[in-house]
Amino acid sequence: MFEKLAPTPEDPIIKLIGLYKNDPRSNKIDVGIGVFKDNNGNTPIMESVRLAETRIHDAQTTKAYVGLAGDENFNQTMIDLIFGDHNGKERIRAVQTPGGCGALRLLSDMLFRAASDRTIWVSDPTWGNHYPVFRQAGFKVDSYPYLNRETKTVNEDEMLSKISQLGTNDIVLLHGCCHNPTGAELSEEAWDEVGNLAAKNGFFPYVDLAYQGFGNSLSQDAYGVRTLMEKVESMVVAASCSKNFGLYRERVGCALMVGKTSEEVDLARSNILTAARSSYSMPPDHGAAVVNLIMNSPDLKSTWETELTAMRNRILSLRKQASDVLREKTDSEKWDFIEHHRGMFSLLVLNQEQTDALMHEHAVYAVAGGRINIAGLRNDEQLNAFADALVAVTS
Ligand code: LMR
Repeated sequence: MFEKLAPTPEDPIIKLIGLYKNDPRSNKIDVGIGVFKDNNGNTPIMESVRLAETRIHDAQTTKAYVGLAGDENFNQTMIDLIFGDHNGKERIRAVQTPGGCGALRLLSDMLFRAASDRTIWVSDPTWGNHYPVFRQAGFKVDSYPYLNRETKTVNEDEMLSKISQLGTNDIVLLHGCCHNPTGAELSEEAWDEVGNLAAKNGFFPYVDLAYQGFGNSLSQDAYGVRTLMEKVESMVVAASCSKNFGLYRERVGCALMVGKTSEEVDLARSNILTAARSSYSMPPDHGAAVVNLIMNSPDLKSTWETELTAMRNRILSLRKQASDVLREKTDSEKWDFIEHHRGMFSLLVLNQEQTDALMHEHAVYAVAGGRINIAGLRNDEQLNAFADALVAVTS
């Protein structure tokens, strides 16, 4: 039965997990997969999550299915978290999904049913898994310029110039905040312009929002998605709670759709539910129940916000420390961009030889292209060792 299958390459990010785990060197440093770590190298269960889990455990009386769309209270909570106090909520629908990737998959299936002849445009570079997810749905995928590889900032002029040529045959994938893999953020002015172009030329915005709260603040990180919603008739958002609630393995996400009218968006929702039924059927409940309880219990919500702020501050402080140390070691400002990036990632723009040398000679595990997860640097010792390794492979 299986002998005719062609072997498939392993996802490079997933592959790194195994390579790191099997490396016996005690000085190894994991700046690979995008998982937040504290200064002991642990990915902690947030206190707000633990408290919510205890309350759910004590109160739960059944494990019966919740339904194809998941818990509607959770869905409403996600609409509020992402879109804030904006008008027009009657044009929004949300469906609980297994993780942000589940949302990307369902939305892509639904969009392909709606408009199979469109091209999805992704940033160059983008998260490696965007291509397989969109292609699996059937879409043609192409890219627009994003990173200036010299300055490590967004090349907004080039990006906007390319996007201004797109129209009603196109879908444009945007990272809501904390761009993966680069860490380089769009300015608010650029978001405004993307919204204006979408409204004028008719391309369809598709936002991947996986790190809300990890960049600047919960509301600032939603600037892009809220701006687009004000300007365009319809759009979709794939949201994840893996990072901002630390619920990675529980698989909590949400597919959000904005339509021109409530009737139109109901059509999108029903097609999403059909796509869910024919793949995994009902979403897992536990993680979404935790998020819902936290967001609707004032004491838990306040604890969560404090914890999220602490995670963000650790990332920001590591960014500053890494820039400072590298400035000192190289007597140059060439790595200062690390401080200005947002979220867990920075793309250092390294070639294969350099990332291989980081791994083989210095036990530093970074994703291809030199994507680092800054939160993987445990303490000053690791930060120093990482900086030394980086200087060694780039000089
Ligand atoms: C990452 O980019 O490291 C995360 O989004 C985790 C993943 O599944 O790739």
